[in-house]
Amino acid sequence: METIAVRSTGPLSGPVVVPGAKNSVLKLMATTLLTDGVFELSNVPDIVDVSIMGDLLDAIGVRMSRPEPGALVLVNDGDITPVAPYELVERIRASINVLGPLLTRCGHVRLSLPGGDDFGARPIDMHVAGLEAMGATFKYSHGYLEAFADRLHGADITFDFPSVGATENLLTAAVFADGTTRIDNAAREPEIIDLCEFLVAMGADVSGIGTSTLVIRGVERGSLHAVAHRTVPDRIQAATYLAAVAVAGGELDVVGVRPEHMTMLLDRFGEMGLSMTPTSTGLRVVAPERLRSIDVATLPYPGIATDYKPLIITMLAVADGVGIVTENLYPGRFRYVEELQRLGADVRTSGHHAVVRGVPRLSGAPVKAHDIRAGAAMVVAGLAAEGETEITGVSHIDRGYDDLVGRLQGVGATIERRTVDAAR
Ligand code: UD1
Repeated sequence: METIAVRSTGPLSGPVVVPGAKNSVLKLMATTLLTDGVFELSNVPDIVDVSIMGDLLDAIGVRMSRPEPGALVLVNDGDITPVAPYELVERIRASINVLGPLLTRCGHVRLSLPGGDDFGARPIDMHVAGLEAMGATFKYSHGYLEAFADRLHGADITFDFPSVGATENLLTAAVFADGTTRIDNAAREPEIIDLCEFLVAMGADVSGIGTSTLVIRGVERGSLHAVAHRTVPDRIQAATYLAAVAVAGGELDVVGVRPEHMTMLLDRFGEMGLSMTPTSTGLRVVAPERLRSIDVATLPYPGIATDYKPLIITMLAVADGVGIVTENLYPGRFRYVEELQRLGADVRTSGHHAVVRGVPRLSGAPVKAHDIRAGAAMVVAGLAAEGETEITGVSHIDRGYDDLVGRLQGVGATIERRTVDAAR
C-alpha cells in the first residue's frame, strides 16, 4: 500500500507548473469516437483516469499511445464496438461521455451505468431525457443502459440545472443529428468551452460557445476530421497549489494557470488575504501572515466549483474567524470533514452547510483520502499541521493529480510517498 506523508514545512517558494485538466482531457478522449483519424492531444496530465479512459476506448476500438510525457495519440480506424463494459465504466464518472459520441455515430450503444467519486448519488436522468428529446430510445437491463437511434434529430432542450456531463453528452450527440439542437441553461465551464473548440476544429457547427445557450447544427456522419488540440489547464489543480501556499505561507509562481477561468475563486481568495498578481506565465501568489475567514457557497460555473470546496474548508480550518460553507451541488460531499476533525479542525456540518471555526494550527495524524479533491485537501491540511500527517487512499489522489508530491517537493514542502505494509 502507498501513503503520502507530509509535515508542516514553513514557507513554500518557487514555480509550480499546472498541467492540463482531467475534466477536459477525459471528454476530449471520449469525443475521438466521433470520427476516424489520428488525434493528437497535448498538455495531458499524467493521471490514472487518463489510463482508465484509454483502456475504455481501447475496448471500444480507439487505440491510445503516449509518444512523450504530456502527449497522447488516439487512433480511430473506424472499427468501433459501441459497448462500454462494467469493469471500466464503474471506475470513472467521465465514462458516461462515450454515450453521446457512440449513439450519434453508431445508432446504438450499450453502456454499464457509471461510477466515479464517492460523493452521493449521481444520476444521469438529464442525459437520458435530452437524448430522448432527440429521438433516442432507452432500455435498462442487468445494470446496462442501451440506447438506440438510427439518426438523432435536433431538439430544443432546456436544462433544470446546468449539468456538466449532460451538456457534454448532448453537445457531442447533436453533432450528427438531423437539424439544429439548442441547449438552454447549458453548463459553461472552461472544460466545456475546450470541448466545443475541439468539436469546431473537427468540423462541427457549434455556436454560443461559453454562453448558457449552445446551438449545434448537425452535419453528415463522416464529415468530421481528426485534429491536434492542447488541453485547457486544470483550474482545480491550480487552486490546490494556491491553497497549499495559503496555509503553508510563502510565495509561488503558478505557471500555466488561466486566472480568467477562476475569477470568482481568486476574488474570494483575495478576501481571505492572498495577494495574487497575473504574470506572463500565470499567477504569482503571496500568502498572508494568517488567512481571514469568509463564507462561501458552491455553484455551477462561473460560481465557486464544488471541487474547490475541500480546499476552501481546509483553508478556513486555519483561518482567523468563522466561515460558513454551503454546498449546492452534492449534498453528501462532506465526508472528508471527519478526517479534518482528526487533524484538530473545528468543523461542524448540518445538511448542506459546514461551519468552520479557524484554529491557529492543525495537529498531524493518519487520515484517509475519500475522493480525488478530498485527498488533495488532506495533503494541504498536512502542510498546516504540526508533526506528520500520513494519508492513505492515495489511489484517489493519483486519479486526478499529476505528481502532486513531486510538485510540492519542488517548492520546498516536506512530503514523500511511502510504500507501507497494508497490514501494519
Ligand atoms: C463534473 C465533474 C465533477 C464536478 C461536477 C460539477 C467530471 C468528470 N466531473 O461532474 O468533478 O464536481 O461536474 O462541477 O467532469 N445531476 C442530475 N441528473 C443528471 C446529471 C446531473 O441530477 O442527469 C446532478 C448531479 O447529481 C449533481 C449535479 O447535477 O448533483 C451536478 O452534476 P454534473 O454537473 O452533471 O456533474 P458531472 O458532470 O457528473
